[in-house]
Amino acid sequence: MSGRENGFVPGLEGVVAAQTRLSHVDGGAGELIVAGFPVEELARRATFEEVVYLLWHDALPDVRELADLRGALARWRPLPRATLELLRAAASEGTPPMDALRMAASTASLRDRDASVNGDTAREDALAVVARFPTIVAAYRRLLDGEEPVDPDPRLGHAANYLYMLNGEVPGQGSVRALETYLNTVADHGLNASTFAARVIVSTRSDLVSAVVGALGALKGPLHGGAPGPALDVVFEIGEARRAEAVLREKLERGERLMGFGHRVYKVRDPRADVLGTAAELLYATDGDEALYELALEVERAAVALLSEHKPGRNLQTNVEFYTALLLHGLGLPTELFTLTFAVGRVAGWTAHCFEQLERGRLIRPQSEYVGERDREWVPSEGR
Ligand code: COA
Repeated sequence: MSGRENGFVPGLEGVVAAQTRLSHVDGGAGELIVAGFPVEELARRATFEEVVYLLWHDALPDVRELADLRGALARWRPLPRATLELLRAAASEGTPPMDALRMAASTASLRDRDASVNGDTAREDALAVVARFPTIVAAYRRLLDGEEPVDPDPRLGHAANYLYMLNGEVPGQGSVRALETYLNTVADHGLNASTFAARVIVSTRSDLVSAVVGALGALKGPLHGGAPGPALDVVFEIGEARRAEAVLREKLERGERLMGFGHRVYKVRDPRADVLGTAAELLYATDGDEALYELALEVERAAVALLSEHKPGRNLQTNVEFYTALLLHGLGLPTELFTLTFAVGRVAGWTAHCFEQLERGRLIRPQSEYVGERDREWVPSEGR
């Protein structure tokens, strides 16, 4: 017996490996539900803190619960001295930013005793990683640029703090809303590879920091953390709307894939592309380079038309990466921080899945099919 007869499913495609109340991806209908809400609604209305609370507690917070969470995040946001020293050492070596985030994330196990949550280690781990991710990313970016990190401001919310710590200036409402829309949109997305990795790790009753570090490792790979950078590069390469069709056609003829289009699960337009497209439109109309937004729209139109010619019947549509690139660029974030900013949002989902797995899950322990040799004869080393 081999392959599917034996129950082997490469890549676990189509295998249901967890039950969750956190999010549902309907690839046929092009819908994403997050804890009962269409992603469009959370993206537009919620603060990131509200989404974190919703994912952790399966309910929206009341005024006091929200204030408590904001206060707890503010207490956990500053980095321990050892984390900062680690980031300084990494920056002096030119360590790639995702590796620096992974190393610094591990130090979330360093405890500030004043911020203890009644000895609830899992809750403290979750607060530490969610609160500190933006601090780590912003500090590292500044250190790489030869600048000193900016301390978080306890009066600012999560998204505002991220931009403040990156740029040293309190951001405008439009930028905060645009970043919050992005973080809310990517906070959770079914049983993707990094979320699955996190669930596997805590299914052994390991700790949440270990799970999040493992998830970061999975996210780093180009097949997952995605490549919003390349999607933006293509827009810049095209430069003018009238060149869009010719440049894209040439890429397809060379057998290249158009970055930011097509999706394994969504077989219609990725709902997150709509949400982020609208947010990008608003951002660019108020404080951005409107011509770049218009150019991106033309590139999208040309790409979708060419892809339907290139792969008729496949319905290859815009995915989340295309407008992620545009939105984060509009917020002034450099390309090398795009995947890290994704992690700043997705860590909410990772920690929520860990809680769910700890509450209801069973040790995740699938089987493998042995396809190696049998009955080998042992030969002593001098005779091999
Ligand atoms: N550009 C050109 N051709 C594409 C394409 C794209 N963006 N996306 C899919 N296709 C083609 C494939 O080459 C394939 O052709 P084939 O049947 O001749 O082999 C066909 O359409 C189906 O693609 P397939 O690889 O089966 O789709 P998938 O569901 O496995 O892949 C992606 C999904 C995301 C990997 C794929 O669409 C892709 O590579 N997109 C570009 C990268 C990107 O934007 N990634 C971010 C995803 S969020």
